[in-house]
Amino acid sequence: MSVQAQYLQKRRSPHDALTELRDGDTLVVPTGVGEPPALLAALSERRRAYRDVKVAQILPLAKHDYFDPATAEHVRHVAYFLGGPSRPGAQVGWIDTLPSHFSELPQLIRRGLTPADVVFSVASPMDEHGWFALSLAADYTMAAVERARAIVLEVNPHVPFAHGNCHVHVSRVTAVVENDQPLREVGLPTIGPVQEAIGRYVAEMIDDGSTLQIGYGAIPDAVVMQLQHKRDLGVHTEMMGDGLLSLIECGAVTNRRKNCLPGKAVATFALGSARLYRYMHRNPAFEMHPVDFTNDPALAGRNDRLVTINATLQVDLFGQCGSESLGTTPYSGTGGQSDFVRAGNRSEGGKSFIVLPATAKGGTISRIVPTLEPGTLVTTSKNDVSFVVTEYGVAALRGKSMRERARELITVAHPDFRPALREQAARLHLV
Ligand code: COA
Repeated sequence: MSVQAQYLQKRRSPHDALTELRDGDTLVVPTGVGEPPALLAALSERRRAYRDVKVAQILPLAKHDYFDPATAEHVRHVAYFLGGPSRPGAQVGWIDTLPSHFSELPQLIRRGLTPADVVFSVASPMDEHGWFALSLAADYTMAAVERARAIVLEVNPHVPFAHGNCHVHVSRVTAVVENDQPLREVGLPTIGPVQEAIGRYVAEMIDDGSTLQIGYGAIPDAVVMQLQHKRDLGVHTEMMGDGLLSLIECGAVTNRRKNCLPGKAVATFALGSARLYRYMHRNPAFEMHPVDFTNDPALAGRNDRLVTINATLQVDLFGQCGSESLGTTPYSGTGGQSDFVRAGNRSEGGKSFIVLPATAKGGTISRIVPTLEPGTLVTTSKNDVSFVVTEYGVAALRGKSMRERARELITVAHPDFRPALREQAARLHLV
């Protein structure tokens, strides 16, 4: 049968495609804009007809109606990471979270350690050879595609057909639904003077010819804004956003000096504007790959001068970064932070930056703390952490003793908190 005939045979309405889902299933949904809005809206409507369906995803964008404790016994979200729609449910306990390095989610799925019965994903229109591109998020979804009993694609003409390893053939697909609504666009975060100051410190330490991984949040984007005058930068990142696109457009990124996939920017998911999604379409200078490729510390670290920039919530005087919870209150997840800190450490001439404002809550709380509050989840360990940057400067921790680290970290704390930190450091025998 021709690929076109297969396509027509598999075309269904969203409600009809839901019949692929069974009670007890784990439904895998891609990151962010890779989530299929029509299918998830249909699932929300019909959720009471199911029992014990889990929707596993790393970063939900839309708050679909199944984010509802009253119907959690029917359909509930399982978080690989927390975002706006999932954070409140995780904080009161009805949303469960699955801890993992982002890089290892595909392995957990492939080995059957975490289930993947059905995949619902947004996809590009099919090409003449019968291939769809899961170009907005190849992440763990490509592994789930290998493993799942049923694959339902929501085909949208606005989804780019990207290069890389993000393609699924129509013969592997169970059902196709069509939706032409414009893709959700995500703007750049607001950058204030504190973020700008941190961005300046980091930007000064980035040499021409560096390859960049840019994390999530305002500070990583503040760094990007200050790199326009650099030369021959490369991109090997987890998330492709408009900040990196602007560096490509102004000529600062050429990808020429990368060791891994030279000439190409590489990412595992995209979150940005329609302009970004158009840039990715059939562009040989850009590739979308699964997260066990992009975030593999050994592979990413093959790039010399790999610079990784990721945000945290707090850092203790030993250098432990609590990036995903405030005490026992969950906030986000591990994501690719630890993957890329390690990648930067492996890279010849590489630099791993952990960035944070020195204080929270209007300057009333220091985010450099003597010890992490009990229950705080450690995202980047003391053995991996390298540079910690606040608006007061750069603490270089790698290769330093506990005492040296404490001294370095106190110098980047807000001046009002330094005397108390010194006292507490003395009690911990750190000064
Ligand atoms: N005590 C109390 N509140 C605190 C706090 C502290 N020690 N530290 C932070 N907060 C509050 C902030 O004030 C802010 O509150 P607000 O929203 O009311 O202003 C909130 O917590 C978030 O802090 P912020 O610094 O704005 O975080 P962010 O939006 O820059 O995000 C994360 C940081 C969540 C992305 C980061 O911690 C994280 O998840 N990292 C792990 C994942 C990762 O790095 N992935 C990288 C690959 S993309």
